Amino acid sequence: DEGLHPPAYPWYHKDPFHTFDHAAIRRGYQVYREVCSACHSLDRIAWRNLINVSHSEDEVKAMAEEVEYEDGPDDNGDMFQRPGKPSDYMPKPYANEEAARAGNAGALPPDLSLMIKARHGGEDYVFSLLTGYVDAPAGVEVREGLNYNPYFPGGAIAMARVLFDGLVEYEDGTPATASQMARDVTTFLAWAAEPEHDDRKKMGMKAAIVLSGLTLLSVYIKRFKWAPIK
Ligand code: HEM
Repeated sequence: DEGLHPPAYPWYHKDPFHTFDHAAIRRGYQVYREVCSACHSLDRIAWRNLINVSHSEDEVKAMAEEVEYEDGPDDNGDMFQRPGKPSDYMPKPYANEEAARAGNAGALPPDLSLMIKARHGGEDYVFSLLTGYVDAPAGVEVREGLNYNPYFPGGAIAMARVLFDGLVEYEDGTPATASQMARDVTTFLAWAAEPEHDDRKKMGMKAAIVLSGLTLLSVYIKRFKWAPIK
């Protein structure tokens, strides 16, 4: 069973002329931090990656400092705790896989860093999954501890519905409906899976402009040089 095919949504950053919606990345980070990070790691993202993407450098330093990291060994060979720095990676919710499974009735919450690239359907799938929890149709049995979600292959997922209207409070005043939070966290995860996206598009645009200029120039030169011969 493949799971219900998600609809195609008009993601702002999917337009060839658009960079990411950075206000959405910022709100989506908040949703990741306040909701998803209780169970899901984001191993490939360091605090510094957020600088000038969703937050200022000062904001990122302050956010990193709120987390304690183990470091060491010091001169005595001891490990010690210290506040986080921008070069530290996002903190993990569990010490190891065993602890993660123990906290989730045997299921493993996957790392979310590359989730948008890893799953068929990408953004549309993750958004649909987050907003797609419904009662199981008559005749469908869902095992104890699992939840019915038609978008999840097989239909029964260990993750329960996590997004409900008003769960977070956005500082920019955007109403935090379940679908708004799903959209924002999906945009955040799309950025996490491809942090070079904006640079790639800007560079591509520059290349297109320069190369079309050079093409026009070469057409002009060719005509100019060949004019006396023709
Ligand atoms: C699986 C996203 C919050 C526990 C997943 C998957 C995604 C996801 C994309 C993978 C589904 C697949 O394999 O195709 C999110 C997001 C969250 C969130 C964006 C926040 C908005 C949570 C929370 C918990 C949790 C808070 C724990 C209370 C799990 C577990 C799985 C999972 C156990 C594995 C499910 C299975 O394989 O049956 N999540 N999640 N998630 N999530 Fe979450």
